[in-house]
Amino acid sequence: MAIYRDPSIRPSLEPHRYHIQDHERQFFLLLTGIKDDQQLRGHILAVQQKAYQVHTILFQFTSAHPLQDPQLRLHPSFFFHQIAQIPGYYNALKLLDKRTDPILLDLGCCFGNDIRKAVVDGWPVQNVIASDLRQEFWDAGHELFKSTPESFPAAFIAGDIFDPSMLDIDIDIAPTPTDNDIRPLTSLTTLTPLKHRVSAIHASSFFHLFNEDQQRLLALRLAALLLPERGSIIFGQHGARPEKGFRIEVAANSSADAEPNPTKHAMFCHSPASWKHLWEQDIFGPHQPTRVRVDAELQETTNERWDFEDLGTNLKVYVMNWSVEVI
Ligand SMILES: C[S@@+](CC[C@H](N)C(=O)[O-])C[C@H]1O[C@@H](n2cnc3c(N)ncnc32)[C@H](O)[C@@H]1O
Repeated sequence: MAIYRDPSIRPSLEPHRYHIQDHERQFFLLLTGIKDDQQLRGHILAVQQKAYQVHTILFQFTSAHPLQDPQLRLHPSFFFHQIAQIPGYYNALKLLDKRTDPILLDLGCCFGNDIRKAVVDGWPVQNVIASDLRQEFWDAGHELFKSTPESFPAAFIAGDIFDPSMLDIDIDIAPTPTDNDIRPLTSLTTLTPLKHRVSAIHASSFFHLFNEDQQRLLALRLAALLLPERGSIIFGQHGARPEKGFRIEVAANSSADAEPNPTKHAMFCHSPASWKHLWEQDIFGPHQPTRVRVDAELQETTNERWDFEDLGTNLKVYVMNWSVEVI
């Protein structure tokens, strides 16, 4: 497991941030077989402590200033599952009745909580695939849920979604009548063979890691993976604002600099309107044969849930539940 180059900047565990909700508690008890709440808390925090050792670039707000030694704070939200909060998830589940062996991809999956939730909800494990920068997070997921690659045989591919060796969207892949060439999904080493093959893509707390241009590129890359058939869907939840722009409120409160620089410190957030425009006009615009409907709803979130507790109680912070569905 890769560790921080400079151990002094490694974030320390913050057990007081352990706020598990009842449905999440039930989920963990079901999957881990643990019976006792205190034992569950100890188990989750112990795995979290290990995961804090993993060095990754979590925030890349601007390509000019990627944080080189970021302090990855794996606060307990990393152990929650967002997927079931998103209305688009329930549209994705309907594809199980409409298609033969539809593929679900979870991008930026971290420990794989969300893909596990989908499997519990009925998505066949051989038809799901997860991906993240770091293999270590996926391995920690097995530890967290007390599973093994044999007991939870979901496919996982480690890699940077922006890297062409991970996903080459310019390659021509001839349509085939069957999925035989990509089965089993566990045999894949890159996402490229999945071009135009994925029925549902989940990406939560992911887009907001990147600046505006990178978010657009990311959207193009996910669109290239999507099977262009009615009902195919990309969905997620991430940081947003009523008006598109930087989340300067948070940067202003959390930056050590006297004059926080939004392009360096703040998260770039789309608004529901700019998010719709991005997908309906830029990605699947009139120049494209595939048309989509975008749903995007702003939701005010709580400090307790999202770790903004140091920033005062008047701060309004939003996330957006969204989906992009082929019509
Ligand atoms: C904030 S976490 C979100 C985890 C999970 N999706 C959730 O909703 O809780 C973002 C994840 O994206 C991964 N990540 C960051 N940059 C990435 C990239 N360029 N390609 C693939 N994964 C990336 C990180 O390693 C991290 O696990």
